[in-house]
Amino acid sequence: MHWTRSIASCAIALSLGVAALSAAGQNAPPKPAPQLSSATPSSARDWWKNAVIYEIYPRSFQDSNGDGIGDLNGITERLDYLKDLGVDAIWLSPVYPSPQVDFGYDISDYENIDPQYGTLKDFDRLVAEAAKRHIRIVMDMVMNHTSDKHQWFIQSRSSRDNPYRNWYMWHDGKGETATDKGQAPNNWQSDFGRSAWEWDEKTRQYYYHKFYIQQPDVNWDNPKIHEAFKDIIGFWLKRGVGGFRFDAITTLFEDPNLIDEDVLLDKNGKSYLNDYGDIALNDTRTNNLPGTHAVMQEMRAWSDTFNSDKFPGTRVLIGETYLPNIAELAKQYGAADKPEFQLPMDTQVGFINKLDVAEFRTRLNDAETGLGGNIPLLVFDNHDNPRIDARYGDGVHDTDIERVIATMLFASRGTALFYYGDEIGMKTTPPARKEDVKDPVGLTGWPKDKGRDGERTPMQWDATADAGFTKAGATPWLPVPPNAATINVQAEKSDPNSLFTWYQTLIRLKKTNPAFAHGDNVMLDTTNTKVLSWLRLTPGAPAVVVSVNFTPDPQTVSLTIPGSGGKIKTLLKTPGASDPASLGEFQLGPYGVYIGEVQ
Ligand code: NOJ
Repeated sequence: MHWTRSIASCAIALSLGVAALSAAGQNAPPKPAPQLSSATPSSARDWWKNAVIYEIYPRSFQDSNGDGIGDLNGITERLDYLKDLGVDAIWLSPVYPSPQVDFGYDISDYENIDPQYGTLKDFDRLVAEAAKRHIRIVMDMVMNHTSDKHQWFIQSRSSRDNPYRNWYMWHDGKGETATDKGQAPNNWQSDFGRSAWEWDEKTRQYYYHKFYIQQPDVNWDNPKIHEAFKDIIGFWLKRGVGGFRFDAITTLFEDPNLIDEDVLLDKNGKSYLNDYGDIALNDTRTNNLPGTHAVMQEMRAWSDTFNSDKFPGTRVLIGETYLPNIAELAKQYGAADKPEFQLPMDTQVGFINKLDVAEFRTRLNDAETGLGGNIPLLVFDNHDNPRIDARYGDGVHDTDIERVIATMLFASRGTALFYYGDEIGMKTTPPARKEDVKDPVGLTGWPKDKGRDGERTPMQWDATADAGFTKAGATPWLPVPPNAATINVQAEKSDPNSLFTWYQTLIRLKKTNPAFAHGDNVMLDTTNTKVLSWLRLTPGAPAVVVSVNFTPDPQTVSLTIPGSGGKIKTLLKTPGASDPASLGEFQLGPYGVYIGEVQ
């Protein structure tokens, strides 16, 4: 059952502080005394606990050499922009050498940089320049699979007795004979459509690939794989990276008995087809198997040996953890004596994909109370999902709705992760024609699933023809959306009412206001189905109240915070809104937001 903290426990908290609140709220363990991140700059060990992390899709951020593809030097050129926005760390999606079948998630060499993106020297310069601005670089670490052009796989597929054979997942087919390849070992499917098994004629076995055919899964039952990835992780940690985002981490292991996945049934009890036209399956035999925990304990212990008190301090492990519920997410942190991720992504909140007050209240409260006092990592957007406009927008109030989303992201306790362009309200722009599709997912899924190009279009820096992404005359690898004429950094930076300014102000509050930085989240007005309100509470500092209208209609809000007197000082409000005199009754416009300090 989901549990929401009641208004009664707020009253106790306001007068007695967070320790009493924790005692009143059964699930919340006591937390250490909060520290202001402005007083403890990013060299502190705990830099990641209230951090703002920005995901860059390097192909699409800034092209410095005019080939139409973004690169590392381009990112270095834009570091001052990120500093000004308030970013603590950049997660780079993969920049390693790769045939680019899955745009870098098919890695052929883990210890170098793809020439499209630059060189190791450029990378070192990026790390050093970012460090000067107290920004850390977080690498993507793909341990589930490699490219089929990686030397390990080239060796592995060369013969059945090659020493690398058992670095991958090779199996006999069913009913195979000397002349017939038979059938795949079972019904397992690739996440990108079709069978997860690919026949290899030379050695007459099938190999397993959870993703594309060109992305064979490695064999985590082989200790040599563990050592190989520890070497790779060490290689980058020694270069000064701030940590890693572990790709597809829940799919490292599969059922050793190769049992078929169960077929999913619709509400009439019938099987159905997914967007790729395959029979929909429940992937319990190939996803979220328990073996990953021991691997992550091992990687965390290894990564921790690189921590130091001097910059860059604690190296942080972030997980791509799409999981079915909060209890499964809680496990990803590990135990005190066997820690795993510091920051497994909470995808429960950000991918609700519907502005439903009750749902957000429950899931935000789960993040507060169901993770054993660990730091939640909230995220609403990334390079694999349509952007915020397509999942939450209504086509009329999109900017206001984007303010609503940003408020939940930055005004909740924990670490905030967002995707390049969210701060200016970039929109999803999928290809109009199949022949323009770059992401193979879009080719398999067309027209139902147009792939991920729509959320990977070039960053919109200014109103010029290429949006300032590349050099004049060059063709960007994906077209610049026409809305770059109005939705761009240059226009929004100088506008106090822009979405950019909203992001920047929220981030500043997160860094400077004690309750906003580290305070507990306490839900208020918990039966309201139109407005989500919560309090941020920390000892020794004024509480902060946040109220967000989830509807296109104006709403009147009435909040009673016992012990507070109801007086309020505005910290941030939707442009054009008036200051409320008291919490007793105030108005929110369509998708309006109000944030104030309780006096
Ligand atoms: C998750 C990544 O975010 C996605 O872009 C990629 O295609 C798959 N993992 C496979 O690596």
